[in-house]
Amino acid sequence: MADVINLTIDGKAVQAAPGTLVINAAKQAGIEIPSFCYYDGLALQAACRMCLVEVEKTPKLQVGCTLPVAEGMVVYTDSPTVRESRKGTLEFLLTNHPLDCPVCDKGGECELQDMTFRYGAGESRFVEQKIHIDEQQWSPVVFYDSPRCILCYRCVRICDEGMGVNALGVINRGAHSEIAPNHFDHLECDECGMCIDICPVGALTSGMYRYKTRPWEMNHVGTICTHCSNGCKTTLGVRNNQIIRGNNRDHSGINGEFLCIKGRYAFDFVHSPERLQSPMLRRNGALEPVSWAEALRTVAKKFQEVKNAGGKFAVIGSNHTTNEENFFLQKFARQVLETNNIDHHRTGDVPALLDALSGKPGALATADDLYHRKAILVIGADLAEQQPFLSFQIRANYRHHGAHVYTVTPGPVREQKYAERSIITLPGQEFEDLESLRAQLKAEAELVILFGDSIKGDAVQKLVAFGDSLGIPVKYVCLLDYSNSRGASDMGIAPDLGPGYVPSSGAGLSYAEILASKDLDVLWVVGANPLKHTALASENAFVVVNEMFLTETAQRADVVFPAASAYEKNGTVTNVCGEVQRLKAGLQVMGTKPDLEIAGLVSKEMGMNIGIWSPDRVFDEIRTSVHGYNIPLPIVASGGAAQTSPVNGRLPRSSRPDLIRSAQDTLFTSGSLGRYSKTLRSVVEAPGELYSGKQP
Ligand code: SF4
Ligand code: SF4
Ligand code: SF4
Ligand code: FES
Repeated sequence: MADVINLTIDGKAVQAAPGTLVINAAKQAGIEIPSFCYYDGLALQAACRMCLVEVEKTPKLQVGCTLPVAEGMVVYTDSPTVRESRKGTLEFLLTNHPLDCPVCDKGGECELQDMTFRYGAGESRFVEQKIHIDEQQWSPVVFYDSPRCILCYRCVRICDEGMGVNALGVINRGAHSEIAPNHFDHLECDECGMCIDICPVGALTSGMYRYKTRPWEMNHVGTICTHCSNGCKTTLGVRNNQIIRGNNRDHSGINGEFLCIKGRYAFDFVHSPERLQSPMLRRNGALEPVSWAEALRTVAKKFQEVKNAGGKFAVIGSNHTTNEENFFLQKFARQVLETNNIDHHRTGDVPALLDALSGKPGALATADDLYHRKAILVIGADLAEQQPFLSFQIRANYRHHGAHVYTVTPGPVREQKYAERSIITLPGQEFEDLESLRAQLKAEAELVILFGDSIKGDAVQKLVAFGDSLGIPVKYVCLLDYSNSRGASDMGIAPDLGPGYVPSSGAGLSYAEILASKDLDVLWVVGANPLKHTALASENAFVVVNEMFLTETAQRADVVFPAASAYEKNGTVTNVCGEVQRLKAGLQVMGTKPDLEIAGLVSKEMGMNIGIWSPDRVFDEIRTSVHGYNIPLPIVASGGAAQTSPVNGRLPRSSRPDLIRSAQDTLFTSGSLGRYSKTLRSVVEAPGELYSGKQP
């Protein structure tokens, strides 16, 4: 077969690869063929007839979205016959349409509106009574308005093919056809809103956004989702300092069109009435609001006194704060408080992986590798629950490239549906059962291995030795829980390893040891809730907490600083694949400050100078001083993702697998943030919380 097909579209000579569809060949040549049901990456549907084109030597108009190019083909996409047919198609699509654009959420972003404006007829011949069906609420986040539906089946396909959920279908026939949810009158699904996002019209609308605003009334701020470690780009629609909508509007970023429920809807914790908006100081046993000046003065004075007396400090950092905040916090701990008693809740053994990959540059997989590599092995993790975007990537890889997928997990996982082979194992036995896959894996051309927290310490070394023994290129992902778990590790929020995994001068106390220590004088907790399950053994310690909410840890504090969320600050975060991306502030919540500024102000109040605390200046310092972070600035500055090149040598780490523990969040939980997201708690799938609407 020829490598290239030559054809003519609208008089333009076009070359395309064999198998290219006419709609895409035209697109490559800068010619738009209008479409509704065609959607890149989804199965062909040929339902709407919007893409009809004229092809020389064929008697009838042809469907451009299913017709492959052929040598010598001559196509007309804008002839009088084609234009007439488009008008007719639009007239048909509008026969039962309510034409309620003035109140429809999709107004201004509606493909039907745009197409009618560009190609449609000015008037309709349809005078009969329209079929009316009441709007349906399928879940707190998904609403369906059948009369607006043009039956393009995009929603059905994205849910089935893209999400692997298959929650939507079609009922009835002809003009009475409707999209229907999987549980009679409601949905039980991932609640991802992908169906809403992909709907070209206002038939599917979002419970969070509907009837609140118009798209042109919002500022659209591209930033990174603050929930899990996958690092999806989300565009916040902000109006009057309120986030109204989250979506990935321009499909840019590593996640393209994908967002799960958390990235799309769980931004509402930002506006929770329980949000702290004033510093608080403990007086007579109770926390009372005070000014920033007083809170900062109190903390600085106490820190100075304890320091002068040679007292014992400890700092617990966060998996959610930015790289700049983490870097500055460890600098504060090490240089101002002169302690290595600093740690964070470690959810995966990154140092063990970097150590095991010593001498193997390029062995950390990117999110893109999960879409392109030929084989994937998942060990000990339910990706659809815990790493939704990674799960989406692997599913897309299977659908588009036929990737071979293997799973070794303690329970059933979504990947099993299409896996070459799946092994159900006892928890903690994953590594042992892996051996039985050796022969099959050896026959693969290449492999990406993703592993959860059951593989840690020496088991990571053994896993990499297993990968080496396969004799094929192998890349790895050490699965982590939160938006900057990887960054916390890279920036040195650890007692034994500083920024870039350089050993500390004398290891300090670990997370568990800090909580168990009976003689701490001061504990500073920044963006974490370690006292949710464990009491602090040092009963007399002076506790300072940076928090958004009065969590269990904040309730124990002597001083609470109200912290800004990730959606209110600038900086960078590093995802589970080591890709660094930029956070952009979308709004400000009155009374709060970013953790970077809080640490900067405390150091200033103490008369210490450990550098300027602006995110850009600290990022400059990180780029020049943290191993692997000298990444290309233009990529990050323009909203792209740049993978850090990891340490390429042995790490002098003390293996502490006991400190690695995943929080086991699900698709519908997200540590403290999830507790304060009303939307996340409102869906029927949320653990322990039932949607108060109709039940099955
Ligand atoms: S919200 Fe997501 S999982 Fe649920 S029906 Fe829509 S696409 Fe499917
Ligand atoms: S609800 Fe939207 S996406 Fe689904 S078939 Fe109707 S128009 Fe298409
Ligand atoms: S997969 Fe993770 S990063 Fe992406 S939208 Fe969901 S919670 Fe956010
Ligand atoms: S886009 Fe071709 S038939 Fe719908």
